Amino acid sequence: MKTILITGGAGFIGSHVVRRFVTKYPEYTIVNLDALTYAGNLENLEDIENAANYKFEKADITDREAMSNVFDKYGITDVVHLAAESHVDRSILSPMDFVYTNVIGTVNLLEVAKNKWKDDYSTHLFYHVSTDEVYGALGSEGLFTEETRYDPHSPYSASKASSDHFVRAYHDTYGIKVVVSNCSNNYGPYHFPEKLIPLMINNIINNKPLPVYGDGKYTRDWLFVKDHAIAIDLIFHEGTVGGTYNIGGFNEWKNIDLVHLLCDQMDEKLGRPAGTSKQLITYVKDRPGHDRRYAIDAGKINRELGWEPSVTFEQGLSETIDWFLANKTWLDNVTSGAYASYYDNQYASN
Ligand code: NAD
Ligand code: DAU
Repeated sequence: MKTILITGGAGFIGSHVVRRFVTKYPEYTIVNLDALTYAGNLENLEDIENAANYKFEKADITDREAMSNVFDKYGITDVVHLAAESHVDRSILSPMDFVYTNVIGTVNLLEVAKNKWKDDYSTHLFYHVSTDEVYGALGSEGLFTEETRYDPHSPYSASKASSDHFVRAYHDTYGIKVVVSNCSNNYGPYHFPEKLIPLMINNIINNKPLPVYGDGKYTRDWLFVKDHAIAIDLIFHEGTVGGTYNIGGFNEWKNIDLVHLLCDQMDEKLGRPAGTSKQLITYVKDRPGHDRRYAIDAGKINRELGWEPSVTFEQGLSETIDWFLANKTWLDNVTSGAYASYYDNQYASN
């Protein structure tokens, strides 16, 4: 019987992964371990918090003793590791936070797994959830494949690249079973409004300026978060040990086109005259070191595991906007207090 430690389960993607594993696999025990930083929120899991197979531990992955105790307390058999500092802009402001959690925290977890599982590595899996940003930036052509050379540019992507290398090193050196996936930009319910899509939704609701960095022609590939959770489930159960899987939506958008689409959908849903929200668009100072374009070739996971996105972007975006409009209290709670000072600091000079 599996007892799976999911780290970062109170965050955006982690909460969808926890929900999927708790509800789909009642025979597993799911231990959600999260430090509840500004990005962690137990409100994201209110619907499953009383499930018999769900446990929560508030702890920091950089704390060796705490990790060791959690492995002993529950008899952890597998790890799905999502806990991280995840926002590129914050990594530019405070890179050391990213080194501590993303690099040291990951190695700390690997060390604990190495020690606790040493009697038989063959029955345990360490699944590391990572990002396509490790591959750097593309020009107008081409896609990231699993063979693309690592070339991270931001402190965030450098820290994730480092953690990916450590995970693979523990496989190659000690024989721990690992798997790594590198995914493109997620969006969906519970997305923290420091990231592009929920920030724009929140600002449109509140009639605030919509800050578009640089010329707005930076390109991202967007994937609905529930499809990422499905991919993680498949890779956890059927992925090749030691392997890497790229996950993406085959869904590239220039930021400005995406913001236009959001404005149109929001005007319609809010009953505002067409064109109202577009007037809020404001071009602001660019992100330093801003990667021009990300685009994922998700062919391997499709061929090997049969995965493909289950919803179109229009469906996913519509569901996402509806969720934010129906969960105003959640949005108000996460944008009160510390969020306001982060926002003022990040956008004040524009
Ligand atoms: P998030 O910022 O929403 O959530 C991160 C979670 O980790 C939070 O609950 C936070 O409390 C927790 N955490 C942070 N530091 C911790 C620590 N030291 N100890 C324990 N818990 C800690 O992030 P997300 O967007 O849900 O991303 C989850 C993972 O997926 C990350 O590893 C990220 O790199 C990766 N990823 C994200 C995206 C995306 O588009 N958001 C895409 C690809 C990969
Ligand atoms: O590609 C996967 C990555 O996607 C994940 O690993 C990261 O955790 C996640 O945060 C995300 O990184 P990005 O930097 O691509 O996402 P973000 O939402 O911050 O920005 C998306 C694009 O929108 C990027 O080109 C910057 C731009 N942007 C962002 C914000 C917050 C703006 O133009 N204005 C903004 O206010």
